[in-house]
Amino acid sequence: MEKEILVRRARSEDLVHVYRIESVSFEYPYSKGDIDALFNIYRDSFFVAEYNKLVIGYIIGRINRYLGHIISIAVDPSYRGRGIGTKLLLKLIDYFKRHGVRIIRLEVSCDNYPAISLYRKIGFHEKYKILRYYPDGKDCYVMFLFVQEHQA
Ligand SMILES: CC(C)(COP(=O)(O)OP(=O)(O)OC[C@H]1O[C@@H](n2cnc3c(N)ncnc32)[C@H](O)[C@@H]1OP(=O)(O)O)[C@@H](O)C(=O)NCCC(=O)NCCS
Repeated sequence: MEKEILVRRARSEDLVHVYRIESVSFEYPYSKGDIDALFNIYRDSFFVAEYNKLVIGYIIGRINRYLGHIISIAVDPSYRGRGIGTKLLLKLIDYFKRHGVRIIRLEVSCDNYPAISLYRKIGFHEKYKILRYYPDGKDCYVMFLFVQEHQA
């Protein structure tokens, strides 16, 4: 299956599918309006995974000078555990590197073991915790990946 997965820039017609995945993936999902706004602002660093002409995952990032921030990533529950999250993350990291990013940051719920494992596997480390970061009072880890000069 893996070789048939295409990771490409999001297009406006993908956003309804991104929203569907977002709403089944998070307890406090972005609204469709939020997704549309993120697309309008960050479309250069907004990627989707496509399989059989279906959008099955997405990742959104943003750059502030040398800092890259991962805003959101999710994979359709039926397609998880097949390397798609990894492909999306590597695509965004590659984009960040090509645009001068030196440090990549993200926030992840302290109880989100699948996501924490994915980030650790790529090389992210938990640096600190923010207490009650989420609306339900859950804490998050802030994780960082330091991009090496020779990797650029
Ligand atoms: C996190 C998420 C994007 C991972 O996507 P995925 O396509 O399933 O990830 P991959 O198949 O590329 O898995 C890569 C690694 O992640 C970890 N991982 C993924 N699913 C896991 C699970 N259920 N339990 C433990 N580790 C898991 C493993 O380390 C895995 O590596 P391995 O296959 O060598 O064991 C997906 O679970 C998801 O959409 N979750 C809901 C949304 C979310 O929590 N997003 C992150 C917000 S910070």
